[in-house]
Amino acid sequence: MLHGKNAEPILPSLKQGFTSLVIGATGAIGGALSAALMQDENSGPVVTLGRRALSRSDAAQSRTHLICDVTDETHVQATAEALSVSAPFDLVINATGLLHDEASGVRPEKAVRQISADAMARVLAVNAIGPALIMRYFLPLMVRDNKAVMAHLSARVGSVSDNRLGGWYSYRAAKAAQNMLVATAAIEWARRAPNTVIVGLHPGTVDSSLSAPFQSATAAHKLFEPAQSAAYLLGVIDALSPADSGGVFAWDGARIQP
Ligand SMILES: NC(=O)c1ccc[n+]([C@@H]2O[C@H](COP(=O)([O-])OP(=O)(O)OC[C@H]3O[C@@H](n4cnc5c(N)ncnc54)[C@H](OP(=O)(O)O)[C@@H]3O)[C@@H](O)[C@H]2O)c1
Repeated sequence: MLHGKNAEPILPSLKQGFTSLVIGATGAIGGALSAALMQDENSGPVVTLGRRALSRSDAAQSRTHLICDVTDETHVQATAEALSVSAPFDLVINATGLLHDEASGVRPEKAVRQISADAMARVLAVNAIGPALIMRYFLPLMVRDNKAVMAHLSARVGSVSDNRLGGWYSYRAAKAAQNMLVATAAIEWARRAPNTVIVGLHPGTVDSSLSAPFQSATAAHKLFEPAQSAAYLLGVIDALSPADSGGVFAWDGARIQP
């Protein structure tokens, strides 16, 4: 047994010593996911990407961390080329996302009159074009002979059929677009690499800077700590099979309808 690691493997469905890539590892959920993976007895190398450097405490843990803006195609392509030496990856998790950015005037719209082309373009770039570029450049770097999972963090509000409250135009549209990209890539990849599962995952409402301005509507017991959500999500990933590819699943494993 490796010292300092969990005794029970958290992803026993992946092969012993699996290699993982967590994109958006400077975020709350991405950070918790990479920390959990590094604690997994069964885990091999954990590579992380972020738009910025890791905090000093995270950087103290031994891992490869590269800077990458997922909205910049040249950057994503160069990062994938640099990481081809670490490939193939058994697990790729995209935990990037953008809901609000007060500094640049991005905030969830309550009404159509609040829609701004610039703000919407940024939200779509991070939540939809970024995932598409990750598929474009990282799916070819994934394991083919065993179960492999590419998971993109989505949100329940990206479900058209579940939309009862309205509002949040850009974020809803971007997550719905991401879900469509997942479904479409899953169809193509089922032919090329039938062991690869491509999904969207809803992490629940999680205490992070992304959710901070909107947490008052959430009961305390329904607000997850990032580590709690990460544990749920890794459990969902472990239970996935190729038949699930293309779907969007919540933290409790329930399928979210489009
Ligand atoms: N928290 C929730 O309640 C909740 C609910 C439903 C869905 N989600 C989804 O879960 C995911 C993670 O959210 P979170 O709560 O962990 O939020 P977070 O702490 O704000 O993390 C978001 C991450 O995305 C990164 N990012 C943003 N733009 C990027 C870009 N252009 N290139 C590379 N990285 C970029 C951020 O980097 P910087 O720190 O450098 O900006 C940050 O690391 C998101 O997809 C979010 O939509 C969250």
